[in-house]
Amino acid sequence: MALDLDELRQRMNNTLSRHRYEHSEAVAAYSAELARHWGVDEKLAYEAGLLHDLMHCLQPEEYLSWALVYGVPCDHAALEDPQLLHGPLAAAVLEQDYYCDDPRLLEAVRCHTVPEPDMGDLAKIVFIADMLEPTRPVWEGQDELRRLALVDLDACVAGCLERTMTYLESRGKTPHPDTASLLEHYRAKARAKNGAGASR
Ligand SMILES: [Fe+2]
Ligand SMILES: [Fe+2]
Repeated sequence: MALDLDELRQRMNNTLSRHRYEHSEAVAAYSAELARHWGVDEKLAYEAGLLHDLMHCLQPEEYLSWALVYGVPCDHAALEDPQLLHGPLAAAVLEQDYYCDDPRLLEAVRCHTVPEPDMGDLAKIVFIADMLEPTRPVWEGQDELRRLALVDLDACVAGCLERTMTYLESRGKTPHPDTASLLEHYRAKARAKNGAGASR
């Protein structure tokens, strides 16, 4: 079923900060650009990018009660950091309240907070665009990863995960417990395609 983007934009305008709303528009545009490059459905990529942070508007304790209402699984990591649920919760809201039935869009929205091992290209694109869209603050290595996004999606996902780990650790925070194994998984996928040594 086609999503009513006007209605969803209205909702986002009412619930998200201005910064978060502008980030969402930037992720939509960058996701569409990457989708065009990779031969992935551009309109779907735009929609998934636009909506990925639909539920980035709740207080920590609210995430847990909304997750219960929408039947979103809540693991130990989510109990420690309920904001991790904003991706899975947005996918559940889109599916249950807006009748979105495209599994690629739902996967992309669900997995943008914590990626899954064998995501489709659309989900990889939105994960990458979320981290590398042009309104994000500048950091070293950003342009290199943007170039990699046009060459190898798996290697770029691995690069984004590596950046997340080093960034969090540099601020004394603990990355999600799955991050290290996901990083190895996506590095190995890139290596398998490109030959040993080419996966970074
Ligand atoms: Fe997010
Ligand atoms: Fe985001």
